[in-house]
Amino acid sequence: MFTQPRIAPSILSADFMNMERDIRVIEEAGAGFVHVDVMDGHFVPNLTLGVPFVKQLARITELPLDVHLMISNPLEQLPWFLEHKPFMVTVHAEALDESAGEIDRAIDMIHEAGCKAGLALKPDLSADAVAPYIEKLDMVLVMSVYPGFSGQKYIEGSQDKVARVVEIARAAGVAPLIQVDGGLGANDATRAVCAAGADVLVAGSAVFGAEDRAQAVHAMIETACAAQASVRKDA
Ligand code: DX5
Ligand code: ZN
Repeated sequence: MFTQPRIAPSILSADFMNMERDIRVIEEAGAGFVHVDVMDGHFVPNLTLGVPFVKQLARITELPLDVHLMISNPLEQLPWFLEHKPFMVTVHAEALDESAGEIDRAIDMIHEAGCKAGLALKPDLSADAVAPYIEKLDMVLVMSVYPGFSGQKYIEGSQDKVARVVEIARAAGVAPLIQVDGGLGANDATRAVCAAGADVLVAGSAVFGAEDRAQAVHAMIETACAAQASVRKDA
């Protein structure tokens, strides 16, 4: 929430045959996290990375791993991921049965493993869904595309959801990180979400699809800082 903006390049868009090289590029460029998109082909219509990948990634980089679990039954699989101590693990509210206390349980499991906990919302879920958990969350992830694929267009209006999460957090007297994922780059979408209070920006194609990936990270940081500064000036 208006902390120094951090870029979390999504390695789903990296070159899988040269993963270590691509990780070094984003490390040197000043990325804040490595965003790992785990998809199970069930919760979302795509199948990507899993536990062995997280395990190996943790061995080759000092950057904090930011694991975005787009899977059904996260409670079953969480222990496998937590064993490798990623910095942040984010589960989707839609994948958990709230009435059975599963959201609380997932957050607690993540914390018990010594990791930070994030709760993600697909575009159709209201920001208010995070309200009951806001005090124990380290991060809220606002999806600005329907999860499943990189390279999609930012859904206009996602910045309003970021603003609502900020309101909910302020009302509770807490300041979790607010991450936005989908369609971001050195572009208007990043400007809009940062002005609204986002501080962790996921970027797949904007970073790894760029000819100069380090420059793409720098350009995003600059765009995000300028957007935050413009809000402070207006305030
Ligand atoms: C989408 C994933 C995103 C995606 C971002 O389901 O969660 O992290 O890879 O890709 P871009 O930045 O290309 O929209
Ligand atoms: Zn993601």
